[in-house]
Amino acid sequence: MTTLSIIKADTGGFVGHCEVHPDMLVAATTAVETAIAQGLLIDGKVSRCGDDISLIMTHDHGPDAEPVHTFAWETFLRTTEIAKQLGLYGAGQDLLSDAFSGNLRGMGPGYAELEFTERASEPVICFLADKTEPGAWNLPLYKMFADPFNTAGLVIDEKMHDGFRFEVYDLYEEKRITFDTPRDSYDLLMFIGAPARYVVHSVESIKLGVPAAATSTQRLSLIAGRYVGKDDPVMIVRCQSGLPAVGEVLEPFSFPYAVAGCMRGSHHAPIMPVGLAQATPARFDGPPRVVALGFQITGGKLIGPRDMFADPSFDRARSQANEAMDYFRGHGPFEPHRLPLSELEYTTMSALEAKMADRWEPMPPVPATRAPV
Ligand code: 13P
Ligand code: 13P
Ligand code: MG
Ligand code: MG
Ligand code: MG
Ligand code: MG
Repeated sequence: MTTLSIIKADTGGFVGHCEVHPDMLVAATTAVETAIAQGLLIDGKVSRCGDDISLIMTHDHGPDAEPVHTFAWETFLRTTEIAKQLGLYGAGQDLLSDAFSGNLRGMGPGYAELEFTERASEPVICFLADKTEPGAWNLPLYKMFADPFNTAGLVIDEKMHDGFRFEVYDLYEEKRITFDTPRDSYDLLMFIGAPARYVVHSVESIKLGVPAAATSTQRLSLIAGRYVGKDDPVMIVRCQSGLPAVGEVLEPFSFPYAVAGCMRGSHHAPIMPVGLAQATPARFDGPPRVVALGFQITGGKLIGPRDMFADPSFDRARSQANEAMDYFRGHGPFEPHRLPLSELEYTTMSALEAKMADRWEPMPPVPATRAPV
């Protein structure tokens, strides 16, 4: 069995929350090369989207493995040091605790991990996003694995026709449930249409019984109990041979759907699929970005990445995203651009409520009804 792990963290932004400084990428790459040489990892690549560094790693330790999580944590401490030396913004932003004890759960960094038996050819797409949250994967995952208008294979590939099993987490109550599509499609949509709370954690093929997709499902705001930014998410999707084809996996991103995140983690804005060179959210700290890194995995080796959205077939999604951004920005501080009060990550509301407490008064009484003329 091979395990593919993407572990990511924002350990400092260059400039503001825009990008990762090249020196940090060099340090992370050196760390990964050392871990390969020492036999901890089979292979590994370092990438980034916006101000978040991703360590994309193959190994045989399985998910939630202490040595792999420890390696990632130590690498992020190293990139934090560089961010501090360079005075970068929010150095160590996503490292929420000084007391790491072997597993990253609740520590701040996000991770998606998938353990599988390698097929003769193993095409995988690693999605990295910035300025949004894990629920942002709900819509594209539904389209890839449950919508025949997106994925032709659901109808015409005998291995896909039985559908897919979605595992959904309730981030508020820390519980999980599974739905089998197409049978439970409408039930599934009722939940994952509320992506701030219900997040697809994994997907597997019903017919083949193999894992197909995994997402990072941490929410920093709930973990930390204070604003530290939406947890910019990552996702792994395996493709082909009874799973959606690469083009079916990329297709949902041809529509720049609205996600929560953007400025101060507190606004709805369109998600823009981009190549790595454009994964630098700028306007209003957005629009939120997603990159798709394609790999062929063979003997655990990561052949790639191919920068899948660096392609003219996504030009229209990008220009539509810019138009949608104008539309949302036109609302300024009004919903639905600004998130509802319960979802805001920055809020002056409680202070305002206290300050205004003695200025509120009851509404005027309803006037007595006049006798009909
Ligand atoms: P596979 O069934 O081999 O995955 O081929 C499907 C395909 O690539 C069509 O786009
Ligand atoms: P990041 O989570 O990408 O650091 O963004 C934080 C923010 O507030 C952007 O405006
Ligand atoms: Mg940041
Ligand atoms: Mg970020
Ligand atoms: Mg963010
Ligand atoms: Mg973040």
